[in-house]
Amino acid sequence: MAIIKAVRGTRDLLPRDTTLWNHVEATARSVFARYGFGEIRTPLFEATELFARSVGEETDIVSKEMYTWEDRGRAESDRGQSLTLRPENTAGVVRAYIEHGMAESGMLEKLFYIGPQFRRERPQRGRYRQFWQIGAEVLGPPWSGSDSALRDAEVLEMLATLLDELGVKGWRLALNSVGSAEDRQRYSAALREALAPVKHLMCEDNQRRAETNPLRVLDSKDPNDQKVIDDLPKIADFLDEDSRTHFEQVKAALEACGVPYTVDPRLVRGLDYYTRTTFEFTVPDGSGLGTQNALLGGGRYDGLSEMLGGPRAPGIGFAIGEDRLILTLQAQAEEREQKKLDAFIAPMGVAQNPGALKLAQDLRRGGLTVEVGDGNFRLKKSFEAADKLARRMVIFGEDEASSGVLTVKDFAKGEQTKVPQAELVAALKLQSQEGSDQPPKRSNLDLLIEAGVISSDYSTEQDSKVLEKLSSTEVESLIRIHNTLKTEKNFSDRRLGLEINL
Ligand code: HAM
Repeated sequence: MAIIKAVRGTRDLLPRDTTLWNHVEATARSVFARYGFGEIRTPLFEATELFARSVGEETDIVSKEMYTWEDRGRAESDRGQSLTLRPENTAGVVRAYIEHGMAESGMLEKLFYIGPQFRRERPQRGRYRQFWQIGAEVLGPPWSGSDSALRDAEVLEMLATLLDELGVKGWRLALNSVGSAEDRQRYSAALREALAPVKHLMCEDNQRRAETNPLRVLDSKDPNDQKVIDDLPKIADFLDEDSRTHFEQVKAALEACGVPYTVDPRLVRGLDYYTRTTFEFTVPDGSGLGTQNALLGGGRYDGLSEMLGGPRAPGIGFAIGEDRLILTLQAQAEEREQKKLDAFIAPMGVAQNPGALKLAQDLRRGGLTVEVGDGNFRLKKSFEAADKLARRMVIFGEDEASSGVLTVKDFAKGEQTKVPQAELVAALKLQSQEGSDQPPKRSNLDLLIEAGVISSDYSTEQDSKVLEKLSSTEVESLIRIHNTLKTEKNFSDRRLGLEINL
């Protein structure tokens, strides 16, 4: 009999996966709590019209990617209704905001959600038909300060904090302003005009969009359309004074908080509800996402509540692709693992093994990550092993043992230096710092891995316990306890477990 498999574009998450997922979610919850966010859970399906009205009929999401069906209800008398599995959650959150009269408090609402979304996209690495988002929305009546640029910067700064705490390396924030609804109208008119003589050069969808919703032409991924798109007018030239000032204020607040960004004038995002600030965070190539390098996206939606029949309630929010975040963390951990060792000690002859082991002990106690070869290895084998595992090889032969001066080969620099044994720890540490442009920012995960509390692929039972149990703020005290205990003679994993109540 044929085996039934998970549907294309969907995945099972097994215990070996969920450890990291739970850690990511726990860290997000802990960060969101520090910024005053509370959790909201909305249904997985909604009336189709909700997405048509908010995300927009002409977007790829609504026009091609939704799982929609006609729901007839149980009783004959039930009216049929078109329902859709949610492709995103901002519309659902704003619907709930309106439905529960949340505007009446007059306060700013800060809401976050974690859950699955559904889009019928072509599956590939980092792109699934059921995927998870970790998102947040800040909205409220204008007098709650919901349209202030400070909120935009706060949300972006919170994201930077979350990604840093999770240990995501090399993220980049791209920022733009798509202006007010009026700015967009003027821009759409200009685009329509500019597209009229050239639209026949583009794909069929874009020929239609050039008339119905020209802004969506800019989302096109068709390489043939890019030439036309490159020559179109830019939104920045259509921003009114207020939108321009708002954008300047967002940028100034980000600079005050030290959050790096680049302005990308083409970033209009593929959903219709955006106004003013739009943004995306990406990760560098080689971070496990292939072409799907957008880790998260978001922006301001000052008119969305009114589009859904609610009161005026400007807002801003984002959604992180959790699947992509996990892929990134795994790929970057692997990379870190590959480059992890500070040194490989190569004893030249079996007689040097004890001395080499003693040297490794000194270096490890000095805080360095070290592997020792074996005096039985031929020099070529030592070189190969060292090159694979470590950034440097320390040669420990008879001469070195008697003179106390060691030969250190740095693979990246292609240099060989002589270093007195007593200075080796300091020299290797210094070289490690010189090797990077800036002191590496160590995440809590890095610290836990370095302290030996969890393994680098988060795969053991102890890892699950630690990651599930601890919020990120507790991690530092755990490392302190661990390091103190480690120096005691009767240190054991069990004692560590007792100490942190695992
Ligand atoms: P979005 O850009 O459509 O925005 O999606 C946000 C993130 O979800 C993307 O950056 C990506 O990481 C992830 N994502 C999207 N589609 C897929 C997929 N098929 N497979 C895996 N991951 C995916 C929104 O959804 C807006 N609601 C964000 C927002 C909130 N704007 C304001 N508030």
